[in-house]
Amino acid sequence: MNQEDYRQLCAEIWEHNWHYYVENAPVISDREFDRLLAILIAIERDHPEWIFPGSPTQRVGETVTGGFPVVRHKTPMLSLANTYSRDEVEEFIARMQKLLHKKEVLFETELKMDGIAVTVRYEEGILVRGVTRGNGREGDNITSNIRTIASLPLELRGNYPRVLEARGEVFMPKKVFAELNRQKQKAGEPPFANPRNAAGGSLKLLDPRQVAKRKLAIVFYGIAEESSGKIKSHYEAVQSLKKFGLPVVEEQARCHSMNEILKFAEKVEKRRKSLPYEIDGIVIKVDDLSSQKKLGITGKNYRWAVAYKFSAEQAETKIKAITVQVGRTGVLTPVAELEPVYLAGSTISRATLHNEDEVKRKDIRVHDVVVIEKGGDVIPKVVEVNKAKRSSKSTPWKMVDHCPDCGHRVARTAGEVAVRCPNKLGCPAQELRRIIFFVSKAGMDIDFLGPKIVEQLVEHGFVKQLSDIYRLKADQLFELPNFKEKSVQNLLASIEKSKDVDLSRFILALGVKYVGVETAELLAGRAGEVDALYKLSTEELLEVEGVGPKVAESVVEFFADPENRQEINRLLKYGVRPRVKQVKSHKGHPFNGKTFVLTGSLEHYTRDQARSLIKERGGKVSSSVSKATNFVLVGSDPGSKYDKAKKLGVKILLEKEFIALL
Ligand code: IVH
Repeated sequence: MNQEDYRQLCAEIWEHNWHYYVENAPVISDREFDRLLAILIAIERDHPEWIFPGSPTQRVGETVTGGFPVVRHKTPMLSLANTYSRDEVEEFIARMQKLLHKKEVLFETELKMDGIAVTVRYEEGILVRGVTRGNGREGDNITSNIRTIASLPLELRGNYPRVLEARGEVFMPKKVFAELNRQKQKAGEPPFANPRNAAGGSLKLLDPRQVAKRKLAIVFYGIAEESSGKIKSHYEAVQSLKKFGLPVVEEQARCHSMNEILKFAEKVEKRRKSLPYEIDGIVIKVDDLSSQKKLGITGKNYRWAVAYKFSAEQAETKIKAITVQVGRTGVLTPVAELEPVYLAGSTISRATLHNEDEVKRKDIRVHDVVVIEKGGDVIPKVVEVNKAKRSSKSTPWKMVDHCPDCGHRVARTAGEVAVRCPNKLGCPAQELRRIIFFVSKAGMDIDFLGPKIVEQLVEHGFVKQLSDIYRLKADQLFELPNFKEKSVQNLLASIEKSKDVDLSRFILALGVKYVGVETAELLAGRAGEVDALYKLSTEELLEVEGVGPKVAESVVEFFADPENRQEINRLLKYGVRPRVKQVKSHKGHPFNGKTFVLTGSLEHYTRDQARSLIKERGGKVSSSVSKATNFVLVGSDPGSKYDKAKKLGVKILLEKEFIALL
C-alpha cells in the first residue's frame, strides 16, 4: 500500500458515500462500506502523515473514532441487588418493614426487562436527551440513536411536567433478534449472544440510520426527575408516564405480602417464554416514594428495591447424534446434534459436550432427551439427561478411536482430558481449522477472509497450507461464488496488508500448541526476530518469566520440525514480514533497559497504558521496589513503594517528568 493507493481508497469511499446519500442507490452493502472504512482507518493509523482534509475520516471525524460525548447524570443511575431464592426475598421484606417501622409495606412488582438501562429527558414536553447508564455517574449521550426507536415519542402528550426525566430499558424483541442473527450468520459474521448484547451493540452504532434498522424498543419503569412534585408513589409514577405517552413496563401488581409476591413471580415465570421480549426476573419495589427516599441507597444499589432473578432459560430436546469435531491443534470435541428447539431468542440445533470425560460424567447418550441451557454465551450446554425418557436399549457413548476426518488413530495423553488426532499434517480438518485461525483477527488479521471463504478456497484446492494464502491470484478468486471485481480487489489488498505483522501475532497465528496471546508476546519479546525462534533452547525458554516446561517443550518441538520451518520460510519468501514493533526506534530512549515500579494513581494514563508506554520504549515494569529499580513513577496517593524508593534512594519520577521523557 503506497500513498497513491491510499488516495484511491479515499476516492472510492467518497464514491460510495455519494451513491448512498445522493443517489440513494448504494452499490455495495453497508458491511462492505464499513470494511473499506476500517481499512482506511488502519492505514491512517500506520501512516498519519498521509491523512489529508479530503479523507472520508476527516468529515466523519468524531463519529468514527471518538464514539459518543459523555454526559454526567443529574441523579446517579444505580443498580438493584439480586435475590435468587424465597428466603432472600423474605429477608428483603423484613428489612423494609424494620427500616420503615411498619408491619405492612406496600410493594409494586413488575417485569425485570433484560436490556440496556437508559435515561431520557424531556423539557417542555420535547425529547432533549437520551443517555446510557455508563458507570452510573456518567454515560454516553446517545440521543440521535434513541430517537430512532419507533415507540419512543419525541413529544409528550397530555398534562406533562415542564421537566421529566424517565428511566427505562432499551431492548430488542426476540423476533427482531432472531432475524438479525439469521442475517449476520448468512453474511458470515459472528452472531450476537443474546438480545441484550444485540441491543447494547445497536445503541453503540455510530450511524443512527443503522440503529433505526435494528428495530429496538423501549419501556420505562421509573422517574429520576419531575418538576410538578405531584407524584407520590411508584404506581402513580408508572401510570403518569403512560399518560404522557411513554411505553411502560408491563404487568405491574400491588403486593402486600410475600405470598402475593410469590404468586406474581410464578405467574410471570410461566409466561416468560411466550413474552415477545427477554426478561430475567421480576423487580420488587417499595411503592411509596417518600419511603424510598428515606431508605436511600447502599453502595451502588437502591435500598428500596430488589431484583428476584429467574434461573437461566432451559429447554428439553432430543440428541439426534453425537458428532466429533476436530480442532486446529487436533483436539477432538464431542458435539450434540439436537432436534432444533427454540431457546432464549434463537433456535438451537447443536450443543458442545466439551470432552469425553464430561459426556461420561453426565452419561449423555445418543437419542437421550436432554435439558439444555443458554448462559451468557452463544454456545448452549447440556445440563442433564432426562433419564425417565431414556430408551432401555440405549448404550453409553464412546469416543471415537479414529479421527473422523483423516482416519488416523487418536491419541490420549496421560493427565489430559483432551483426545487428539496426532496426524498434524495429513488431517484435512486440522489443516482447515489452522488456516481459519491463521487468517483470523487474532492471527494475521486478513479482512474479507472469513471461515466460509477459507473453506471454499480449500475445496477448490487453491489453499492447502498456510503459505498458499500469499500465493492466491485474482483469477482463482474469480472462481469462488459471489466474487466480483471489487471483492477480489478487497481480498487481495487485505492479504497484502497483512504481510506487515507483529512478530507476536505471527507466532500466535502459526498455532503452536499451548501458545496463546500472552505466551506469543513473551516469545516475541525474547526472540526479537523469526530466525531467533529456531535457536531457542528449552533452558532459555524456561528463563522467560511466564513460560513453563509444557510450553517450552512444545515451542522447541514446533520450531525444530523441518516441515514447520519450511512453511515459515515459504511465508517469509512470499513477503510476510514479522517484526517486533518499535524496538529499534527506542534504542537511545532513556527508558530502554530500565526497570520501573508504579505507585499511586496517574492523572493522564491508566496503569496499563503507562506500562505499555514503558515497555514500548524498551523498559520493564516490576511490582516491587529494590536496589535494581531505576525509576519509581509516582502518582497521587502513592503507597509504601514510594517510601521504600526514598529510603533506597531510587529516582522518583513525577507524572509530568515521565511525560516529558516519553
Ligand atoms: S428499577 C430508576 N425496574 O435492571 C430505576 N430496573 O439490575 C432503577 N431493570 O439498571 C432500577 N427492569 O437496567 C428497575 N422494572 C425495572 C427494571 C429494571 C429492568 C434493569 C435496570 C437496572 C438493572 C438492575
